[in-house]
Amino acid sequence: MAMVCLSDFEAYAKKYLPRIAWDFFAAGADECSTRDENILAYKRIHFRPRMLRDVSVMDTRTKLLGTEISFPVGIAPTGFHQLAWPDGEKSTARAANAMNTCYIASTYSTCTLEEISAAAPGGFRWFQLYIHRNRAVSQQLVQRAEALGFQALVLTADLPYTGKRRDDVRNGFRLPPHMKLKNLEGAFEGDDCSEYGLPPNSLDPSVTWNDIYWLQSLTRLPIIIKGILTKEDAELAVRHGAQGIIVSNHGGRQLDGGPATIDALIEVVEAVQGRIEVYLDGGIRKGSDVLKALALGAKCVFIGRPALWGLAYKGEEGLQDVLRILRDEFRLSMALAGCASVSEIGRHLVQFSKL
Ligand code: FNR
Repeated sequence: MAMVCLSDFEAYAKKYLPRIAWDFFAAGADECSTRDENILAYKRIHFRPRMLRDVSVMDTRTKLLGTEISFPVGIAPTGFHQLAWPDGEKSTARAANAMNTCYIASTYSTCTLEEISAAAPGGFRWFQLYIHRNRAVSQQLVQRAEALGFQALVLTADLPYTGKRRDDVRNGFRLPPHMKLKNLEGAFEGDDCSEYGLPPNSLDPSVTWNDIYWLQSLTRLPIIIKGILTKEDAELAVRHGAQGIIVSNHGGRQLDGGPATIDALIEVVEAVQGRIEVYLDGGIRKGSDVLKALALGAKCVFIGRPALWGLAYKGEEGLQDVLRILRDEFRLSMALAGCASVSEIGRHLVQFSKL
């Protein structure tokens, strides 16, 4: 089977993954309106391409908080990579490193942070944190990540409770017994781990902006807030000392009925006014989607489900294929729009037929 675009990997994963794993990866909340809107919204944005601009030498490199990556697509944090491929997050770390991009490892990884680090020494990685009611568990994770050389902390802000994903409820989704949330092993010994491998209500729903100060007291790592969708929250993130924002709706898995991330990006970028870096995830399926997000002010985008499809196809190699296809499509879109380097991408490149 020739793998030409990301949909080919999606079709493969749908065909070959166990149904319960496919449903878990694909799930959105409730009617999945926001999940689907993340993708549809790109179709309403059109380019204003420029011609005759010498695109014989192309440069897709950019920097995230000062660290250079080969192209502006990283890997969003997603849980349970062993559901897609036996080596799980170790393969993800190797693929990201081979393609010289950033991998955000999830709290809910099926490999330990130590295994992830050892799989790709020197790789560019951030650690995604969920804050647990048992704060000592979260504190220890942050300190482990820092000691292992993870370069930033990504605090996911949109999950005080898990959204209602109908297929997971119908399937009675649970991690298979041989897979563990390795980073949390021992933390919930003896508890009933029926909710996504964790005791029900283990996350702390009382987290507020003030807890960013608590995180800052634990670590010197830069803090990035993931899950911001409004100008008000963007302003609060800046005021509380965050160094970055990921505009995200968790792939439409949390509150159904919110905006597509590419639409929310515009108000967040306007509010932030360049004071900190703004990234985006959700619905990126083509190189031209990456170009649209950068044109609207994202410094970089991250992929969630497409990374899992790549892993399901061929582990590390499959994920590298996914990243390579996105990189090549992005480079071609840039060239056809008249941009030879990332710094030439700007708002002038897009128009809206409808917002
Ligand atoms: C996620 N996401 C997520 N986010 C997070 O902060 N921590 C996590 O552990 C997870 N786990 C997770 C599992 C699965 C199966 C999915 C699909 C998503 C959300 C993820 O980081 C990202 O926001 C979305 O996946 C982006 O949308 P796309 O690229 O999947 O459309």
